[in-house]
Amino acid sequence: MQTSLFAGVEELPRDPILGLTEAFVADKSPNRVNLGVGVYQDASGKTPLLACVKQAEEALLAKAAPHAYVPIDGLAAFDAAVAAMVFADSADLAKVSTIQSLGGTGALKLGAEMIRVISPNAKVWISDPSWENHRALFSAAGFTVETYPYYGADGELDYSGLIKALSAIPAGDAVLLHACCHNPTGLDLSHDQWREIAKIVRARGLIPFLDTAYMGFAEGLEADAFSVRLFASDGGPLFVSFSFSKSLSLYGERVGALCVLTASAQERSRVQSQLKRIARVTYSSPPGHGASAAAMVLTDASLRKQWDDELGGMRERIKKMRKLLADKLTERMPGRDFSYIVRQNGMFSYSRLTKPQAIALREKYAVYALDSGRICVAALNEKNIDYVSECIAKVMAEA
Ligand code: LMR
Repeated sequence: MQTSLFAGVEELPRDPILGLTEAFVADKSPNRVNLGVGVYQDASGKTPLLACVKQAEEALLAKAAPHAYVPIDGLAAFDAAVAAMVFADSADLAKVSTIQSLGGTGALKLGAEMIRVISPNAKVWISDPSWENHRALFSAAGFTVETYPYYGADGELDYSGLIKALSAIPAGDAVLLHACCHNPTGLDLSHDQWREIAKIVRARGLIPFLDTAYMGFAEGLEADAFSVRLFASDGGPLFVSFSFSKSLSLYGERVGALCVLTASAQERSRVQSQLKRIARVTYSSPPGHGASAAAMVLTDASLRKQWDDELGGMRERIKKMRKLLADKLTERMPGRDFSYIVRQNGMFSYSRLTKPQAIALREKYAVYALDSGRICVAALNEKNIDYVSECIAKVMAEA
């Protein structure tokens, strides 16, 4: 008998984030709650269709435009609107190369491939811990991935560890930083800390790559752009990956962008040509619908205002859920400090659940958290929060 071509193919473990959603979907428990993936849900437990997006989509539908190919580097109106929003006047936009991407992950991948063009032997440094896919993505792009300290044994930011490590990274290596709403810890840097970090990154000649998937979820679009604009204001170089998945609730449309700040308009043009080649040999050109809707929201003053309001609503609801969760856990476990939940930013709380506790939470109670203990606070609501806090308190008390 002939051996199958695939006989030796190894079965890989499921994805640590999206694989949990697969398990959640298969779970028949009536109480199941998915706190794994970073998806915002409204008070009724649904992923919202934002009114600004709905209006933009209706206007697009009314145009009944044909489904033509989108240029390799994306819709020009979209690219321009994203760069203007992210950088404002902190950078000369004639020096910024922008390419529409398949969500934030697609932007990271394009950026990784671009770094291979300019600095193929660079190592990529990510925070410890970081988004589960960072290491996998940069490793798959051929880089050695190293970590710098970020989360201390006390559950707070390990700032001195971070500074010490950054100060020892060799010139030419790339440093991935989370522009705001650090994923998974929710621990963000102060303005002064960002200033010090930017100084070290520049003094050492490192390549800064700011992952900006949650802009608007900490303090608002403007305030959350601080770190990006700080790095941009000295003229670069700078890589920024951006995503509209969360901020416009456009998850399935895969709408993101990579912006690369170069030193001149000529450099921008050359970098753009490289990014176009990378996109062309990977997926040819991006999809049009979601980016068209996003461009309309960004460029129409009334839709833009509506977006700010709706994003503010999501942000405030998450903050309310943080407070409620901390209060309910404190009621159940008096004497234990849960104030860190309120101090963290963005969709996630690094809950301080251990891996065995996260597994018990899932297996005994159908409450899905990442093995790292990360929970998506944006999936909590007034109907599930009692059950969730009761189950978290139970597993925390058991171990
Ligand atoms: C997350 O961290 O849960 C999100 O960014 C979704 C993803 O793709 O992992």
